[in-house]
Amino acid sequence: MPCSIEPLKKLALLGAIDDCIKISSSEFTNHISTSSKTAARILKKLDDENLIKRKIVSNGQLITITEQGLKKLRDEYADYQRIFEKEDNIELYGYVVNGLGEGKYYISLGGYKKQFEDKLHFIPYPGTLNVCLTNYSKHTREKLEELHAIQIEGFTDGERTFGSGKCYKARIEDIESAIILPSRSHYPSDLLEIIAPVNLRKKLNLKDGDEVEIILEEQSQLSRRVIK
Ligand code: CDP
Repeated sequence: MPCSIEPLKKLALLGAIDDCIKISSSEFTNHISTSSKTAARILKKLDDENLIKRKIVSNGQLITITEQGLKKLRDEYADYQRIFEKEDNIELYGYVVNGLGEGKYYISLGGYKKQFEDKLHFIPYPGTLNVCLTNYSKHTREKLEELHAIQIEGFTDGERTFGSGKCYKARIEDIESAIILPSRSHYPSDLLEIIAPVNLRKKLNLKDGDEVEIILEEQSQLSRRVIK
């Protein structure tokens, strides 16, 4: 029995992601070049694996791809991204600098913290690692503005308003992290703020002046192409 991904992809191309489609096993054979009996077995297998939801109706079945099915397709997609895009990493180079000690306060605010958890899928260590970009990376920094960003919304706590910002998922020396760019910032544009689930100074034994490499994650890099 062929693996699930090909028929799942075909169903997605037929529109079973946004909607439910009506198709019979014999019609499905036209899309996956097998016998009608095998097509029926494949659809059953997808159903058994909880990759699609089916409802048998007269002369066909109504099919929608489930969340789990979508995840399987996305994982496949990520593999292709890795295959074809590894040559095109966006890298930024800089050195660690001291900040104003404000990062801890902002990152710990519930209104931001919750969004980081939901949107970046990690709980940030309270604080930001400040990185001053090398001359070479300054124009790369400008490119960030063109990329697809994860939006962090501003909020108010009843007294003060806290501004919005953008995040870009990245890796710093192979540790999951994110660059945060506040919308309203008094910082010079060669300064980046990095958040991560761990204390990066400790984990990477970093001192002021040490050089670091920040690599944007594929997700952002792909989006750049889509936007272009
Ligand atoms: O503004 P400043 O960098 O001085 O301080 P902070 O943002 O409040 O962060 C506290 C300390 O933790 C600083 O030394 C940061 O460089 C460091 N930090 C880190 O090593 N890794 C993180 N993920 C966040 C902050």
